[in-house]
Amino acid sequence: MALQRGVVIKTEGDLAAMRRAGRVNARALAAAVSVVRPGVTTAEVNAAAEEVLRKAGAGMAFLNYPGPFPYPAATCVSVNDELVHGIPGSRKLKEGDIVSIDCGSVVDGFVGDSAITIGVGEVSDEAQRLLDVTCAALFAGIEHMRVGQRTGDVSAAIQAAVEGNGFNVVREYTGHGVGRAMHEDPQVPNYGRAGTGLILRPGVTIALEPMVLAGRPETRVLRDQWTVASRDGRLTAHFEHSVAVTANGPLLLTVLDEDLDGGPAAAYNDYFVGRAPAAVREMEEQRT
Ligand code: MF3
Ligand code: CO
Repeated sequence: MALQRGVVIKTEGDLAAMRRAGRVNARALAAAVSVVRPGVTTAEVNAAAEEVLRKAGAGMAFLNYPGPFPYPAATCVSVNDELVHGIPGSRKLKEGDIVSIDCGSVVDGFVGDSAITIGVGEVSDEAQRLLDVTCAALFAGIEHMRVGQRTGDVSAAIQAAVEGNGFNVVREYTGHGVGRAMHEDPQVPNYGRAGTGLILRPGVTIALEPMVLAGRPETRVLRDQWTVASRDGRLTAHFEHSVAVTANGPLLLTVLDEDLDGGPAAAYNDYFVGRAPAAVREMEEQRT
């Protein structure tokens, strides 16, 4: 484990552990997604993810995470105008909602961190476009997770993908290095200037997480002291993958293994990858 400006460079062995953590995290999110339907509570969505982590013997990276008070759950479940850090509870999902599920696992000392936003039943055209644009923005960023590119290139690509479609990126919360700690250097905002920031090299691992607002970019924290919502009350979405820079291009850490995870694996991965720019799809195919 070598240091570069406070950035922890991962070895091949570290990356293998991070893939294990990422895969468990994907399984937890897939389980949570599978229970989403009208009438289900956000606590039930959380419980589905938590059960996967427990049965896998994985740790929960979010549980007790320091904040205004220790974070009380394994996942964040954020509905509609809620952008991130929604605390699971008695709120019932209803047809037309969009729900973001964010989960963090720990396996062999390494963290997997990823998030997905899905519709509950049929959603409005604007909601669907917000999901599509936010997911595409994640992959626009991933496309720049290459040796010699800079974190500013990643940030600028995410921002352009979002603002080019008339939506806004959050300013107060950022993507981040990920490894033995959930939050490592560098910070990778969802806005920035190409040609600036840290130069990427093999072994850099970053959780990229576009947090997108359909309306104004300003947020507020709800009275529960954790939940971050849009100030204007309009819809928001959040997609996240933990990604490694390798000599062969970006490596997605928080995906299912289509051989080992069976049926739902391809559909889960496709929910992300199917929306990726063609270049990312090809790259994914080449690696296997
Ligand atoms: N994906 C989020 C992040 O990277 C999740 C943190 S929620 C917390 O910051 F509860 F753990 F803080
Ligand atoms: Co994160």
